[in-house]
Amino acid sequence: MRIILLGAPGAGKGTQAQFLMKTFGIPQISTGDMLRAAIKAGTELGQQAKAVMDAGKLVSDDIMIGLVKERIAQPDCQNGFLLDGFPRTIPQADAMQEAGIDVDVVLEFAVPDDVIVARMGGRRVHPGSGRVYHVEHNPPQQAGKDDVTGEDLIIRDDDKEETVRKRLAIYHEQTEPLVAYYRTLAEQGKTAFHKVDGTRDVETISKELGELLG
Ligand code: AP5
Ligand code: ZN
Repeated sequence: MRIILLGAPGAGKGTQAQFLMKTFGIPQISTGDMLRAAIKAGTELGQQAKAVMDAGKLVSDDIMIGLVKERIAQPDCQNGFLLDGFPRTIPQADAMQEAGIDVDVVLEFAVPDDVIVARMGGRRVHPGSGRVYHVEHNPPQQAGKDDVTGEDLIIRDDDKEETVRKRLAIYHEQTEPLVAYYRTLAEQGKTAFHKVDGTRDVETISKELGELLG
């Protein structure tokens, strides 16, 4: 199964990706995680991306399209994948179409901005795996530690309230038009499209996705 997770920063894409990966046995392609790994490794891409990400802006379409095409060509993506954070602009979506990369379903996670801003302050992540937690809504078994490795959890550099608001503004401007884009493709029978109410608790949403995609 090939799935696109569409939604604002903090809408719960990474959280539900963990559930979908396990349930359907497909890899998560999180472009944000790929960029953070590049920053950590100190690659040229990482050095370029760091300032852009810390400012809450988007990395250039050319770089992102190249990165994702290369990733999708890997053998573990042959039976499907979960795109988390890509495409994020119309040119990125067009590039997928032009490359003939079709998807079975697009899931839009709808969450109002004020709920997102309130949520982001409590996010904690495991940098090695991208696993994501929330101090109240999705706490790790042991405070501040990853459930699988026991390693420390961190706060992402772009989770400051000011940066979150900037990311939300860019989402509305550059990414939200993809909702209409994929609804149109769905009307043409080229993909399925589902809007998911992302304000409910994590388990309720996972259950709905399991039934929907079952
Ligand atoms: P990226 O890492 O993709 O960030 P994002 O899209 O802004 O999304 P987030 O990871 O912040 O949120 P999420 O929806 O995954 O929410 P999560 O599940 O963590 O990208 C980072 C940056 O990289 C971008 O700003 C850009 O610079 C660059 N970039 C990446 N892709 C790019 C591209 N294609 N083109 C250009 N630039 C690109 O949940 C958030 C919190 O809420 C967690 O604490 C979680 O536990 C909690 N939570 C989740 N679900 C619920 C729930 N139902 N109820 C209560 N709490 C919940
Ligand atoms: Zn994420």
